[in-house]
Amino acid sequence: MLNKHAALEKNSILMLIFVVITISIGGIVEIVPLFRLETTIEPVKGVRPYTPLELAGYNVYLREGCYGCHSQQIRPLRDEVERYGHYSLAAESMYDHPFQWGSKRTGPDLARVGGKYSDDWHLQHMIDPKSLVPESIMPKYAHLVEKTVTLDDIPDHMMALRMVGVPYTDEQIDNAYADALAQAATDSPGIDGLLERYSKVNARNFDGRSTTTEMDALIAYLQVLGTMAELQDYKHDGTQRSGR
Ligand code: HEC
Repeated sequence: MLNKHAALEKNSILMLIFVVITISIGGIVEIVPLFRLETTIEPVKGVRPYTPLELAGYNVYLREGCYGCHSQQIRPLRDEVERYGHYSLAAESMYDHPFQWGSKRTGPDLARVGGKYSDDWHLQHMIDPKSLVPESIMPKYAHLVEKTVTLDDIPDHMMALRMVGVPYTDEQIDNAYADALAQAATDSPGIDGLLERYSKVNARNFDGRSTTTEMDALIAYLQVLGTMAELQDYKHDGTQRSGR
């Protein structure tokens, strides 16, 4: 046995082949079980796909490049958790394609900004950030109240998302246009259908304008961020409480 080992040590090609075999075994043992799992993301109660209006707002967020200054990922570190709230769970961004974790924080993290401010605050802040936060360097996005949001392509966006695993139903896609209008209106007759199709929806006229604007969509999106997951089920170390 030992003199066979000497042959291995003296022949570099043979040595290389055996090194590759040894490393591959280690790699296969680590990787193969992952292929056999349906998902590595632990599901969290309450997390649902975006409503059509929120999805339109998400698209505005992407188009305007808000991710260039804002992350959406609260790390499990004490200072972050004290400032922003419960650290982000993987399931909370499982329906974002592309996800918005980001790596640059010129402004604060937005993963849990939903419900932190009123719609009026967001409206005023988007129109002129300095009017609320004098030292702000965030650009003005006043043009978003002038533009009616494009909703014609939302069913296509939903179908594309469904292809990559977001569980939109046919009914949700068929009613996308009506649901988007219903969410941005007060006392809309379409509201019952919307509430049936999506849980915990903020439905109101977000920007106070008579048309459904890009601002409505963006604020609807911001107001839902980080509010879906039912985090009371989670202990601080991220494990699920027993008995559930
Ligand atoms: C040039 C960098 C920059 C860009 C681009 C930017 N922001 Fe900001 N944002 C900031 C800074 C800095 C602050 C902190 C000061 C303030 O509140 O205005 C901020 C604050 C915010 C806040 C308040 C967060 C909190 O918890 O107080 C929200 C909401 C927000 N931004 C949304 C957006 C959205 C939506 C977009 C894209 C339409 C955007 N921002 C684009 C820099 C930016």
